Amino acid sequence: MKYAIIGSGKIGTAIARAFSRNNIEVAIANSRGPETLASLTKDLGSSVHPQSVQEACTAEMVFLAVPFPAHKDVAKMFSNWNGKIVVDTMNTLDLSLKQREELGGILSSKVVAKAFSGARVVKGFNHLPAEQLGTNPSIQGQRQTVFLSSNDVDASATVAAVATQLGFAPVELGKLSEGGTPLHVVGGKPGGLLFQNLVKLG
Ligand SMILES: NC(=O)c1ccc[n+]([C@@H]2O[C@H](COP(=O)([O-])OP(=O)(O)OC[C@H]3O[C@@H](n4cnc5c(N)ncnc54)[C@H](OP(=O)(O)O)[C@@H]3O)[C@@H](O)[C@H]2O)c1
Repeated sequence: MKYAIIGSGKIGTAIARAFSRNNIEVAIANSRGPETLASLTKDLGSSVHPQSVQEACTAEMVFLAVPFPAHKDVAKMFSNWNGKIVVDTMNTLDLSLKQREELGGILSSKVVAKAFSGARVVKGFNHLPAEQLGTNPSIQGQRQTVFLSSNDVDASATVAAVATQLGFAPVELGKLSEGGTPLHVVGGKPGGLLFQNLVKLG
């Protein structure tokens, strides 16, 4: 399976670093083009490949690591999202009042699913500050938890398998508007699972 990360900022880099640490090939893209990613990919190593956003969109699993308002622009960069897995790492903590009102109380991941029509959206890798994601001290047998939520059981399981390969302990929460709600910012307030840096023992 081909993996790509769109967004090379704090959270995109943290996820790319997890791929790199585990020597799993991944593409990374940003708004300014692959030529601006040379120093980052040099730092991350040979398993992380700079690409254009259009190329990155051809991956089967795309991690969306852009500011929430930019997701619509990314969605328009590709014509057919059918069947692809889109991992929504975005939070809506920084939205303006107007942008929050536009959400109209709908979960942000549902707005993302609408924009990426046909894609199987999995919410996840969004619950920690980038500097904490994947950076817990290595203590024997302990793995950092990542929470995943999706309306598509198979997509959730597929992302969980990747999370395991990346060294995390995935916890699948079920549907977006059921178990997944605490993984969202709702009404401007972080859900109960945001900022919880938990580990699985053994
Ligand atoms: N930072 C955290 O600790 C953290 C934690 C959890 C979740 N998140 C979520 O992760 C997302 C990214 O946050 P961040 O802190 O990583 O932001 P960031 O450091 O500002 O990076 C944003 C990245 O998105 C890219 N981008 C913006 N618009 C784009 C577009 N239309 N097409 C392609 N790439 C585009 C930017 O490209 P350029 O580099 O070319 O400008 C940049 O690489 C946000 O939704 C945030 O809520 C962040």
